[in-house]
Amino acid sequence: MQDFLEFQSISKGYPGVQALSDVSFSVRKGAVHGLMGENGAGKSTLIRLLSGDQSADNGEIRIEGEAQGYRSVRDAFRAGVIVIHQELQLVPELTVAENLWLGHFPGKGGVIDRRQLLRVVGEKLAEIGIDVDPSAKIASLSIGERQMVEIAKAVMLDARVIALDEPTSSLSSRESEILFALIERLRSNGTVILYVSHRLDEIFRLCDSLTVLRDGKLAAHHPDISKVTRDQIIAEMVGREISNIWGWRGRDLGAERLRVDAICGPKLKTPLSFSVRRGEILGFFGLIGAGRSEMTRLVYGADRRHQGTVTIDGAIVRADNPPQSIRAGMVLCPEDRKFDGIVQGRSIEENMAISSRRHFSPFGILNRKKEAELADRFIAKLRVRTPSRKQDIINLSGGNQQKVILGRWLSEQGVKVLIIDEPTRGIDVGAKSEIYEILYELAGQGMAIVVISSELPEVMGITDRILVMCQGRIAADFARTDFDERRILAAALPDVPTEQVQPS
Ligand SMILES: Nc1ncnc2c1ncn2[C@@H]1O[C@H](COP(=O)(O)OP(=O)(O)OP(=O)(O)O)[C@@H](O)[C@H]1O
Ligand SMILES: [Mg+2]
Repeated sequence: MQDFLEFQSISKGYPGVQALSDVSFSVRKGAVHGLMGENGAGKSTLIRLLSGDQSADNGEIRIEGEAQGYRSVRDAFRAGVIVIHQELQLVPELTVAENLWLGHFPGKGGVIDRRQLLRVVGEKLAEIGIDVDPSAKIASLSIGERQMVEIAKAVMLDARVIALDEPTSSLSSRESEILFALIERLRSNGTVILYVSHRLDEIFRLCDSLTVLRDGKLAAHHPDISKVTRDQIIAEMVGREISNIWGWRGRDLGAERLRVDAICGPKLKTPLSFSVRRGEILGFFGLIGAGRSEMTRLVYGADRRHQGTVTIDGAIVRADNPPQSIRAGMVLCPEDRKFDGIVQGRSIEENMAISSRRHFSPFGILNRKKEAELADRFIAKLRVRTPSRKQDIINLSGGNQQKVILGRWLSEQGVKVLIIDEPTRGIDVGAKSEIYEILYELAGQGMAIVVISSELPEVMGITDRILVMCQGRIAADFARTDFDERRILAAALPDVPTEQVQPS
C-alpha cells in the first residue's frame, strides 16, 4: 500500500539540544503507527512539527505524496492533521461544549445558540461513547475527563492524520478502552494515527507499525510490529538490555508506621482505615474516580477531614494541613505534578531543591553546593536528558520534567511516610526501573510508602500489598502472594460479575 504520511530527513534543534537529527520514516494509509523512545528522545518534537506549531530546521513532511509547507496549526488543521498534545490544550474557563466548538467549527464562532450547542455536543459525545456533561466547565473535570474531551475533539473532526501524544497517561483502563475503540474506528476509515506511548502493552495491542527514536535519531523502524519483541524494542529505546523492569524483592517489614483511622471528608463519605508498616510498600489501585487521590489528600490534610485520625509511629499526629503533615514526617508527591509541582521559569536545580519541607522557607537560605550535587546526582540517576542543571525546567520534555519533580520528593530527608501518586506517569521504561530501585531503597531504610497507580502491572509489580478502591471505599485487600490480575480488576469494577472481567 502507498505510504500516506512521510517524514523526510527531519532535523530540529533547540538551544543546547539537537532534538531531532535526520529522521526519516513513513506510515501506510489506515495504519496505527507507534512512536516510542526514552524521555527526551524527540517524540513530542516530531509531533509538534507535524502539528504546524513549530517548523523543522531541515526536512519535509509529506501527506499522500504532497509536501506540506504549512507554517501554523491552522494550516495543518486545513490539511487534515489533528494533534492531541502531551500537555492538554483545553481552555479551563470554558465549558466542554464550548471547547469542542472551538476545535470543531473554526472560524464559525460568531453566533452560537447555547442550547443547540449543548444538544449537538451532547449527542456527539454520547455517540462517541464519552460520558461527560457538555455544560461542565473544563476546570471542574478530572484529568482523565479532560483528556477524553480532547480526544472527542479530534474524532469529531474528519481528520486524515491524527497524532496522539501519550493519550492514556491520565486515563483509567475503562477510559482507555473507549479510546482504543475510537482508534479502531478511525483506522477502518483510513485515518493514519501516530501514537506516542511509553506503554508497550498498548503499542502491541494497537499499532501496525512502529518507529523507535533514541537521542533524536531514528533507532529502528518496524513496518510490521508482529515481527518484533518487547525486549528488542526496549533495547532499541534505551540502548541496553533490561530484563526485569520491576525488580521487586522481599524486605523485612517492621512495626506499624502509618495508621489511618476512619477518615472521611466532603468527597469520601465512607470512613476509611488502613495501616502501613516500616519498610512496606502499599499499593492503592482503582479506576479513575474510585477515590484514591481524594483519599490521599485527606490523609495528608490537603483537603479538610470531617473526622478520623492519622497515627505515625504509634502517636496520633496533627496532620490537618500539608505543613503539619510534613512536620510529622509525611510527604505527598501529587498526581498532577505539572500543576502542583513545577515552578516555571526556574532551573532544574531550583525545581529539585524546592522540596516540600523547604517549600515554606525562601529560596535564599538553601545550600547551593548541596543543591547542585543533588541535582547532578538525580539527573544522572534518572537519566534526565538536558544540557545542564541550569536549564529552565519548561524546556525539558514532559517525562524529564516528571523525573525532576520526582527527584525532589525522593531526595527528601527525614521522611517517615511517603505517599506517591502515579509515580511513573509518562516516564520511560529505563527510568522507571531506576525509580522503583529508589523506592525499594527508601523502604529498605524503614520508610512506609504508599503508591497510588492506575497501571495495574505497576502496582502488582512493585508493591507488597494492594488495597483496591471502588466508589470511595476500600473494596479488597490483597497480599503479594495473592496478587491476581483478574481478581484485582474485578474488585475495582463497580458491580460487574467476575466472569465478565477481561485482563488487559
Ligand atoms: N523549547 C525547548 N527548548 C530547549 N530544549 C527543548 C525545547 N523543547 C524540547 N526541548 C528538548 O528537546 C528534546 C526532545 O524533547 P521531546 O519533548 O521531543 O521529547 P519526548 O521524546 O517527547 O520525551 P517525553 O517522553 O519525556 O515526552 C529534549 O531534550 C528536550 O529537553
Ligand atoms: Mg513528549
